[in-house]
Amino acid sequence: MAEFSLPANSIVKKGRIFEAPATAKNTKRFKIYRYNPDDGQNPSVDTYDIDLDTCGPMVLDALIKIKNEIDPTLTFRRSCREGICGSCSMNIDGMNTLACIKAIEDIKGDVKIYPLPHLDVVKDLVPDLTNFYAQYASIQPWIQTDTPPPPDRERLQSKEDREKLEGLEECILCACCSTSCPSYWWNSDRYLGPAALLAAYRWIADSRDEATGERLDELEDPFKLYRCHTIMNCTNACPKNLNPAKAIAEIKKLIVKRRN
Ligand code: SF4
Ligand code: SF4
Ligand code: FES
Repeated sequence: MAEFSLPANSIVKKGRIFEAPATAKNTKRFKIYRYNPDDGQNPSVDTYDIDLDTCGPMVLDALIKIKNEIDPTLTFRRSCREGICGSCSMNIDGMNTLACIKAIEDIKGDVKIYPLPHLDVVKDLVPDLTNFYAQYASIQPWIQTDTPPPPDRERLQSKEDREKLEGLEECILCACCSTSCPSYWWNSDRYLGPAALLAAYRWIADSRDEATGERLDELEDPFKLYRCHTIMNCTNACPKNLNPAKAIAEIKKLIVKRRN
């Protein structure tokens, strides 16, 4: 599994410590990466002791409590609070995951929280996903057809063909997979990464789409696709239990098949 921890010579400094109220009996320590592009300082790790008796069960609950009650400057993304929107992805306890579905009680010791690794940081726990979204757009994630649709209804799909999209269409674009992939860490300028490739396969596998050949042409590239070395970090990291590594393997198989 992808672990991420600070190297001994890290430029990240120890930061401020916010202790829990003296009356708190059930405290947990949260160590959270802080970076403010406007203060000219190196990143730091701030420490917050949280009274779990007055906090919800998930890591996101603790972050919201910190922001609301202790330190309004703490910055992170979140929206749905139920693992649907993909906004609250971050590195918690050494793993990329969604803060809203990560239970605090499942974490032994201090809770260490960092932004998704190997991306530029906008502020605190907010990474810059510009390249990630551009790569998603590059696979043209919409249905493409040459034939006109039926005049009286939408394009239909058999139950069996619809089932081929299971495990693909549930992707919430959280980026946990791509940012746990060593190949993506080193080549994210040219390697599309597991999230974009899973999305590409979602359209290739769709019986209604008529651009399979063009899609495979685009992907048949030493960097866009073939930087995947089947390390499987992506599949281990996915908080929705999807299997991007398998989707990538399916694309490679289709490319081999059409050569023969
Ligand atoms: S299987 Fe491929 S995409 Fe997944 S972590 Fe490994 S190299 Fe990256
Ligand atoms: S495949 Fe999983 S980890 Fe990757 S972006 Fe989609 S939901 Fe997130
Ligand atoms: S807040 Fe939407 S996935 Fe966590």
